[in-house]
Amino acid sequence: MEAHYEALESSWHVVDGCLHYERLVVPTGNAESSFHRWFHLKEAFSGEMLPTVIKQLGQDAVDGLRILDCFAGGGTTLVSGLKASSQYRNGMDVVGIERNPFLHHISQSKLRALLAGPTFLEELSAEYKAVAELYASTRDLPHVVPALSTLTNHDYVPSDNLRSLIRMRSAITEVSDGLARDVMLTAAASVVEASSRLRRDGRALRFNAQREPKNPWQEFRLRMERILDDIQDAPRVSGFGHVFQGDGRTPSTRVKPKSRDLIIFSPPYPNNIDYTEIYKMEAWYLGCYSTAEQFRSQRLKTVRSHPSVRFDENYHFATSPAADEVRALIRPLIEAVPEDRYQSGRLQLIRGYVDDMFKLFQECRDLVADNGRLVYVVGNSAHGDHETRFIIAADLLMARLAEIAGWKVEEIAVARSLRRRITNSRFLRESVVTLSPC
Ligand SMILES: C[S@@+](CC[C@H](N)C(=O)[O-])C[C@H]1O[C@@H](n2cnc3c(N)ncnc32)[C@H](O)[C@@H]1O
Repeated sequence: MEAHYEALESSWHVVDGCLHYERLVVPTGNAESSFHRWFHLKEAFSGEMLPTVIKQLGQDAVDGLRILDCFAGGGTTLVSGLKASSQYRNGMDVVGIERNPFLHHISQSKLRALLAGPTFLEELSAEYKAVAELYASTRDLPHVVPALSTLTNHDYVPSDNLRSLIRMRSAITEVSDGLARDVMLTAAASVVEASSRLRRDGRALRFNAQREPKNPWQEFRLRMERILDDIQDAPRVSGFGHVFQGDGRTPSTRVKPKSRDLIIFSPPYPNNIDYTEIYKMEAWYLGCYSTAEQFRSQRLKTVRSHPSVRFDENYHFATSPAADEVRALIRPLIEAVPEDRYQSGRLQLIRGYVDDMFKLFQECRDLVADNGRLVYVVGNSAHGDHETRFIIAADLLMARLAEIAGWKVEEIAVARSLRRRITNSRFLRESVVTLSPC
């Protein structure tokens, strides 16, 4: 595998990107930055990523810069773009796509509030006041318990806290509608984890009996105060912003050909993180799913970066003219997968991920403007145990897929090394890769 990766890498310009990007591939600064701080997404990149990339590419002077993020997550790219839009020539046009209904809720509420600006303050303050009064009143409110066992397990979420969370949600939906309701639901969902003894930890929600759950209403109040401050001080926005709930792998259904100056995204990494799973408490709480079937069907709609469900094994690349090139790219990796009980899940992950990324690059190729750029941020991952360890070097695999799909690899900037005790491979790293259409 290492030889395969060395050979692949040797045809591209690889640079040490620590200086510019090490801090930016993680959510540095987002917890303190207005609008970004409404929900802490561990897997987000920094709000400083977009301005840095624009500067690095010399796109600062592009008239009305048009941006697309195919995996919008908590909306970092879109929020950064709009916050800075008035500093660019003729503003900015930012479009995102997000598949997870909860994360879509978060990103769209931030974006719409930013677009509404300080004039939205009065309406939100009034509705928040009405929610607080109703919550504190003795009035009975609908008490619909989400059908997710994680939320109803009292060791995980103390029963008083669950009752408070549900009353809060009911009070919001009872008195409020439109954007004010969406923003308050964002604040309510953002206190769910803190109100429990669970913690998002890598790929899972982990139980910690020692953890002291916070009081949901007090947390909600704190978050609403921050949100109101952010709206009061919201910067002037110049341009357009929208986030679609949909499939980022087929952006051509949302965006016109040759219409994007910069396509920038961080896809799910092929590291087994299942976003549907780790944000399930919030999604069920907001009512994004009401049956186990809906929950499972959501998983099936995500990038094939995790083995939590059996995905369809139809591979678009297999019937494309590039089938042999894609097969040659992944053959050494397929052969490195150990024959154990995880074998079929890992093979499905490798083929599915490669297929999704190949299709994505093909679609994006049609959407980028002639002098535009595509920048992706991705992390490589180690799989298997100490005897059978192999690395999925997503940065290099994706770069080769992009080449096959009609892109030129301008630069691979290694943002940070993830070298751990488990392996010495220099390919365990996170990179920021720049492509141009060719
Ligand atoms: C690494 S995160 C992106 C984080 C984002 N850059 C940010 O800063 O908030 C990857 C995102 O891809 C989303 N995702 C997974 N499958 C998707 C699909 N088919 N279409 C669009 N988004 C998808 C996940 O829900 C997750 O939010």
